[in-house]
Amino acid sequence: MRKFGRRIYYYPCLDSTNSAARFLAHQGEKEGTVVIAGEQTNGQGRGGNWWFSPPGGLWFSLILYPDISISSLGRINMAAAGAVAFSIQKLFPSLSTNILWPNDVLIEGKKVGGVMCRASLDGKKSKFVILGLGINVNIVDFPSPLGFTATSLSKEIGRKIYLSFFLAHLLKELEQMYRLCLFDFSSLLEMIHPSLYLLGKLAKIGIGQDGISGLVQGLDEEGCLILRLESGVQRKIDLRERPIYLRGIGEKDPLIESGC
Ligand code: BTN
Repeated sequence: MRKFGRRIYYYPCLDSTNSAARFLAHQGEKEGTVVIAGEQTNGQGRGGNWWFSPPGGLWFSLILYPDISISSLGRINMAAAGAVAFSIQKLFPSLSTNILWPNDVLIEGKKVGGVMCRASLDGKKSKFVILGLGINVNIVDFPSPLGFTATSLSKEIGRKIYLSFFLAHLLKELEQMYRLCLFDFSSLLEMIHPSLYLLGKLAKIGIGQDGISGLVQGLDEEGCLILRLESGVQRKIDLRERPIYLRGIGEKDPLIESGC
């Protein structure tokens, strides 16, 4: 029986759907409950970044109670990014999407959506997880310098999209991917591997002072990124190291390209 979206809380404006969902989870709200906002005044992105969330986008959070260890939480991120990418591909087959580990969904190298997963911990297990998703559905204008790195579905296909239509499809896809993530992560990995933006590329990941560079070989069973360093040693990068993707080596920086 489907759970995702069985109960939906909609607010025209919230500071952040993640905060509202966390509050509801503390009250014991059921798994699959969704909190959506028409706009957010303090949308949260990964790494403490502010998330641009004006009217027209799809900004929501899901309450989850996964029975997995905290070392596997990266799987949920991957399942969610995969669900966003596949929903776009299925509904708009002319668009081609990629997943930029660990949390971005791209169209032609520009960010169309992001996911983030925050756990409330109970020892080594999570009490609950709040999965936040932000998708630029009908955003027409982005403030500078976001305009150089972000895009929206309506910009890409040239028409407005009904948010409820996209949400209904995405929730179905999310639930399927979430089940795979819990019970058959290797099938999920097989599905998303071809969409990984960094696969086979040299990339620099921001961890610690200098960052780590290497050839991206894929993802492991926990959703960690596998890099082969110049020394030939394999290095796995875990989300808990709070990595940021700096950019592919040799890849043009859109902000520098645009003169920012
Ligand atoms: C990222 O940094 O790429 C992840 C962005 C996640 C943004 C969404 S919008 C809905 C939910 N509420 C928030 O405050 N953040 C997430």
